[in-house]
Amino acid sequence: MLNFDFQNPTHILFGKDRIADIGKHVPADARVLILVGGASAEKTGTLAEVRQALGGRQHSTFSGIEPNPSFETAMKAVQVVREQGFDFLLAVGGGSVIDATKFIAAAAPFEGDPWKILTSWGADITQALPFGTVLTLPATGSEMNNGGVITRHDIGAKRPFRSNKVFPLFSVLDPAKTYTLPMSQIANGVVDAFVHTIEQYLTYPVNAPLQDRFAESLLQTLAEIGPRLLSAPEPVYDDRATLMWSATLALNGLIGSGVPQDWATHMIGHELTALHNIDHARTLAIVLPSMLEERRVPKRDKLLQYGERVWGITTGTDDERITAAIARTRAFFETMGIGTRLKDYGLGAEVIDVVVHQLEEHGMTQLGEHRDITPAVSRRILEAAL
Ligand code: NZQ
Ligand code: ZN
Repeated sequence: MLNFDFQNPTHILFGKDRIADIGKHVPADARVLILVGGASAEKTGTLAEVRQALGGRQHSTFSGIEPNPSFETAMKAVQVVREQGFDFLLAVGGGSVIDATKFIAAAAPFEGDPWKILTSWGADITQALPFGTVLTLPATGSEMNNGGVITRHDIGAKRPFRSNKVFPLFSVLDPAKTYTLPMSQIANGVVDAFVHTIEQYLTYPVNAPLQDRFAESLLQTLAEIGPRLLSAPEPVYDDRATLMWSATLALNGLIGSGVPQDWATHMIGHELTALHNIDHARTLAIVLPSMLEERRVPKRDKLLQYGERVWGITTGTDDERITAAIARTRAFFETMGIGTRLKDYGLGAEVIDVVVHQLEEHGMTQLGEHRDITPAVSRRILEAAL
């Protein structure tokens, strides 16, 4: 029986040249801190467009937010916000800049040590500065959700947080802003959005046919456009738009409403990023195929449904169909140029102990939709991913 809350206050401004509309959504008297990553926002001209759209408002720019944003850098921005009295934040970038901005928005007014925001998984957030985003990399869905992930390098921890106080007020989604992305990041985006959908869909049936079909349409769409995005000699606006909207819808709460969720692949993947600096999406491509293999029995019904509806697998015994569905998933990631084995990233069996230890350190000892993926099970999954 479905029973859920669904809240999503983020206003989406989708389409070409929508940055110009930012001015309608930022208060006229706001003191705005723009947050960017490395050089991309400046080089592509997006930062200049944003500054122009802010018109006469007071603004300044904080740059240097890294991919897999760090607590240390975010805290430098918190200091700038506090010292200079900024009251509105504007993230210009991919998931990393947006996640960092969410953390900064919550940390600036936070009383006490902001690390508590992360150790409490976001529960300790009571207020946050308002912020908007200009998305330049479709992948994470951070532009329309209330979550973020922050890394603390000194202790090798990558921790998620979530709070309804950190939904973006608005997000500009201009598909043309993706034209400057390297193909490796487009591939990452397709795979991240695909796995977000899987984490909320490939669990066990709860008689939620609409959520299932929403999810299947996202998976089918990503499977269809993924290879085409990679082979296109020039960026095609409509395909970029489809990717951008798919990635947003994959993690804005809609498809996950009222259904069981997994997220074990993400939690194990975060440890691989924290320890070995592998791109987020690539860690998912390493973990997911082995995860599905390990979870064949508890995920049996959904694996069969997924195989049939997403990959058209209708013949063979149940076991053969499940094997084929997992193989198609792995092949799809490989087609996107993304390795699905630890060895593709120069890692061998020697790394597994440390990953499992970190999972234990971070309380990731009861993962998955049944909360039964213990460290011993995570170890088997990683061994199968060698
Ligand atoms: O730093 P700059 O110079 O901006 O370059 C970035 C960065 O190097 C570059 N880039 C972004 N837009 C560009 C561009 N280069 C050229 N043209 C453009 N238009 O791309 C590189 C990667 O950016 P990043 O933001 O790190 O990638 P992504 O969007 O994949 O974000 C990854 C982060 O999001 C977290 C991940 O864990 C990771 O830390 N996630 C956040 C989630 C959420 N908030 O809901 C869910 C996800 O599962 C994920 O965990
Ligand atoms: Zn992800």
